[in-house]
Amino acid sequence: MTITEQLTSQDAINLENNYGAHNYHPLPVVLSKGEGVHVWDVEGQRYYDFLSAYSAVNQGHCHPKIVGAMEEQAKKLTLTSRAFYNDMLGRFEKYITGYFGFDKVLPMNTGAEAVETAIKICRKWAYEKKGVAEQDARIIVCENNFHGRTTTIISFSNDEDARKNFGPYTPGFIKIPYDDTDALEQVLKTEENIAGFLVEPIQGEAGVYVPSDGYLKKAAALCKAHNVLFIADEIQTGIARTGKLLAVHHEDVKPDVLILGKALSGGTYPVSAVLADDTIMEVIKPGQHGSTFGGNPVAAAVAMAALDVIEEEKLADNAEELGRFFREGMQKYIDGSGIVKLVRGKGLLNAIVINDSEDSSTAWDICVALKENGLLAKPTHGNIIRFAPPLVMNKEQLEDCIRIITKTLKAFE
Ligand SMILES: Cc1ncc(COP(=O)(O)O)c(C=O)c1O
Repeated sequence: MTITEQLTSQDAINLENNYGAHNYHPLPVVLSKGEGVHVWDVEGQRYYDFLSAYSAVNQGHCHPKIVGAMEEQAKKLTLTSRAFYNDMLGRFEKYITGYFGFDKVLPMNTGAEAVETAIKICRKWAYEKKGVAEQDARIIVCENNFHGRTTTIISFSNDEDARKNFGPYTPGFIKIPYDDTDALEQVLKTEENIAGFLVEPIQGEAGVYVPSDGYLKKAAALCKAHNVLFIADEIQTGIARTGKLLAVHHEDVKPDVLILGKALSGGTYPVSAVLADDTIMEVIKPGQHGSTFGGNPVAAAVAMAALDVIEEEKLADNAEELGRFFREGMQKYIDGSGIVKLVRGKGLLNAIVINDSEDSSTAWDICVALKENGLLAKPTHGNIIRFAPPLVMNKEQLEDCIRIITKTLKAFE
């Protein structure tokens, strides 16, 4: 078989089954092309993408400006490592720190790496700035969090699939309920050596749990009062997805440490970043953290183009407006529905909860039926289906999507 040989969907599925580790359970659709809000399978069938690669493709598939920047840079210089300077990284660093309002950035590749980076910065800050005794720093996290798949990160997950038989686990984390500032305050008051509070402004993977209004603001204020770093994991919620540039902006919060990934490249390339001000970032010195690919020239070019697109195409405003329209449209349906319990979300990060037991296959079956009707979405946990289309969608397309979704759901009533 050659790399150019035409495959059927079944051929491609068989190849993955036979030669790849079975660490995912994909919907049975094999995609070979994407443009804007659409993807096509190898047989030429077109679909609306309602997952956007877990909110990485906010700018739409193969955005010409981002792909153009990638192509142009790839022809000139792709990788130098950080052993040498390159003429793109500094530009990107100036651009992204100005864009998000921080003094410094530390570039990485995947989301999990950026979370690991934030954890390391936070611990080092606690030892060197806060005066916590070495080895004693602890970070508060939330139940049902999702921050990635490394051994340290899964150590503080409470998803059994993510965690079981991957121990021994990394110590130094305290878990509290999400959306519970009383629990946060209690830990901050009673426990010693707290370095940081790591939180998702909306819990995406857990099923798009939107916390109560004021939660982030109060949590950030509590952290400040106790000299604890407020670390926002905006890998999924950030970069216009929830109707603002960052989800913390809904509550006028500036985190001490901001973690970004996914849409930082518009889904074209793994680019992640941790942003903080000098008083925090200065704890990292040469040789203490890094990555061969982190901050490479292609990543720098792609990320600047991806952030340009967010601003030029006013994608946060579009997400805000279309998100409201989507939830209203779904709510109208849900009011007369027995199969859907509720719709929730912010901007274009939304989910519906199916009215069936958590271990039923109904959400999966609905996603398979949605696929047959031309729209791709995936259950998150149990009976919850996340809906997160590219933010370049327009109202007519979204109306069409609401029609597809409600028509599909009707068949399950
Ligand atoms: C909030 C959050 N943090 C971290 C990650 C991990 O990112 P990656 O898969 O790029 O390692 C994800 C991925 O879904 C995420 O949603």
